[in-house]
Amino acid sequence: MAYVMALAGSAIGLGNIWRFPYIVGEHGGALFILVYLFFSFVISMPILFGESVIGKKSHRSTYDAMDMLAPGTGWKYLGLLTVISPFIIVSYYSVVGGWSIDYLVRSCAGGLNCASQESAAALFSRSSSTAWETLASFTAFLLLTAGIIVLGVKKGIEKFSKLAMPALFFLIVFIAIYSMTLPGSMEGVKYLVKPDFSKFGLDTLSFALGQSFYSLSLGVGIVLTYSSYMKDEDSVVKSGTSAAVFDSLFAILAGFAIMPAVFAAGIKPGAGPALIFESLPYTFSCMSEQMPVVGAVVTFLFFLTILTAALTSSVSLYEVCESHLIERWKMSRLKASAIIFVAAWLLGASCALSFGPLKDVEIFGNSIFGFCDLISSNYLMTLGALAFSIFAGWKMKKADVQSEVGSFFYFMIRWVSPIVIIVIFISNMLL
Ligand code: PFF
Repeated sequence: MAYVMALAGSAIGLGNIWRFPYIVGEHGGALFILVYLFFSFVISMPILFGESVIGKKSHRSTYDAMDMLAPGTGWKYLGLLTVISPFIIVSYYSVVGGWSIDYLVRSCAGGLNCASQESAAALFSRSSSTAWETLASFTAFLLLTAGIIVLGVKKGIEKFSKLAMPALFFLIVFIAIYSMTLPGSMEGVKYLVKPDFSKFGLDTLSFALGQSFYSLSLGVGIVLTYSSYMKDEDSVVKSGTSAAVFDSLFAILAGFAIMPAVFAAGIKPGAGPALIFESLPYTFSCMSEQMPVVGAVVTFLFFLTILTAALTSSVSLYEVCESHLIERWKMSRLKASAIIFVAAWLLGASCALSFGPLKDVEIFGNSIFGFCDLISSNYLMTLGALAFSIFAGWKMKKADVQSEVGSFFYFMIRWVSPIVIIVIFISNMLL
């Protein structure tokens, strides 16, 4: 139970509430959701099982797991890659987590009563580009993450996930119901359920696959690390399936919490990463003109939901790096946490400032934040997921993997998932 909650906690995060709605918005709504669900269960879930078996069989963190299961080979560099990618992700992820703290504080102080959508957009651009504000909220978020990590796996991650996950479901259902009762919200519901085939393209496939990896936390060593704490009698398939079902369910619920509210306010859904920060404070405050208290409470609960979901995910990213330093470099939990904190702060602060003082710094045409997001979620994750499925499908002993996942999923891990990833990845590069 604790494992499923922690895994679902890692999976359910900003990817579901912040990323999923704007990617759905940019890629045509319902059809994207269908492709995303198909990929999640047919391609990504078997990879999740494969990554999980590696952790369960080795009882080690990423680098040591590879070193133990394939000694003396280059596979350990995959282990190292999957320490670096969660490190990059947690650094920029904490910037968005920080924005949710900023908005949570503002909603308590009554500062989110935006009179128009323009003023909501202006507020977001002002707060994300003001150096002290964005650095303060980012630092607070990273500190919260590090605090849970220092408490350890049982007292920190498990306890927090067990409390947070049921609360998250309750909150998102409440917000979805509230959103769908706003005048004009049915346009948003239609957008989510009516497929628009004209928007279907090859990029729909690659974005849907990428989103399902992102959402299930695949290819960055999280599933492997969490599974290393599993007992022999625990079922990889049962717990992995539960986590995947919770994750997709939450993404859909988040869609129904956000899109109706976006449409109710007459905002275009394809507004990109700023979508929820620019639109929801306005929607919730202006739609509750007669009942400002209700609007303020819903806004508060919404940003509380984002913060909680972001925290259960950021601890999983942090824990991958943490367990590497503890196992490989024999550090104490406290020392490892402190080292990661300093390093992630330096990288994350550059990402945070790339919305303000460092906005002119470009890396291959991207801002620092955009670059960290791009290389980690488009390239490193895909590479990691591909490598884990090849490792579980081809390098590990067949009997070890098959006894955990059964012959159907073994076939999927060995053949279907890697081939689909390679085909989509290559065609995306060529087109
Ligand atoms: N799965 C989480 C989310 O969707 O927000 C956290 C996450 C894990 C994000 C791994 C990105 C990632 F590469």
